Amino acid sequence: MPEAGATPILDTMRDLPIGIFDSGLGGLTVAGEIMRALPDESIIYLGDTARCPYGPRSQNDVRRFVLQIGRWLSAREVKLIVVACNTATAAGLPLAQQAFDVPVIGVVEPGARAAVKATVNRRVGVIGTVGTIESGAYSQAARAIDAGVTVFSTPAPRFVDLVEQGLRLGEGTLEDLLSQMGSVYVRPAFYEMARDYLDPLKRSGVDTLVLGCTHFPLLETAIQQVMGSRVRLISSAEETAREVVETLTLRGHRAGPSATRTEVYATTGDPDEFGALGARIIGRGLGTVKHVDVAELEALFDHTMAERLREHEADETCG
Ligand code: DGL
Repeated sequence: MPEAGATPILDTMRDLPIGIFDSGLGGLTVAGEIMRALPDESIIYLGDTARCPYGPRSQNDVRRFVLQIGRWLSAREVKLIVVACNTATAAGLPLAQQAFDVPVIGVVEPGARAAVKATVNRRVGVIGTVGTIESGAYSQAARAIDAGVTVFSTPAPRFVDLVEQGLRLGEGTLEDLLSQMGSVYVRPAFYEMARDYLDPLKRSGVDTLVLGCTHFPLLETAIQQVMGSRVRLISSAEETAREVVETLTLRGHRAGPSATRTEVYATTGDPDEFGALGARIIGRGLGTVKHVDVAELEALFDHTMAERLREHEADETCG
């Protein structure tokens, strides 16, 4: 219910969509949680599939992408931006928060917060892309919440390829996909890879493991089998959705029920493929997926943005 005396500006804000982006399809797991938690909100989702994966790229490249996509979403008048990609959050969240007028929420802090709440022995493991792990973002976020927590992290880049293959080869909904991932990857090749990544974490005695990459929740069953049932797995999608709810509620910017609610999906890659694979994650059709040219995004990275990025990097170098 809109409050009595609410200003027209506030009412307009309520009707604006939430902008969400990821390097590709994985962020749809976060979008799905946000839509479950906030069924009245309109959303605009951009998957930068043409430039995926972000994981092996330099921080500088990923930051540029974050600024470009943030600007693309801002031009569509979103009321809040969710960086639904761990690598992009780790590299570019503070920069995006400085650059844009609306709140920008990432997935690292919510995941770290959930892990810190869940751990009993205060030993937390994190797996993610090379970019995410090398940035140290999860360790910093966890220690900012509880300085007594020890974080053990390992990059697990081959898990991303595995999920991509599974998405392309499997059939059915996300639930089907999850059970296929659970059974299809109970194979020697998966276990060998999983052991390489996960055995050191098991030896460190972690009781909680953060799935610090949008793709990894799709391997949850298999990872749980390797880690053992006593290790709690954390995916940040739900926690991130909770943070979006809290932010919009505190600002009085939550949408009410409306017949004009919209869902827009866009990709820099192939819209048909994005629609087909995305429908499996969301559990229903995405409608017509819009194509956005990478050149259109690159054109948004103007002199002001370049200057902002240079200043940010200079600040970082100075410590
Ligand atoms: N979306 C990325 C993340 O959560 C995984 C895929 C990529 O490397 O771009 O880190």
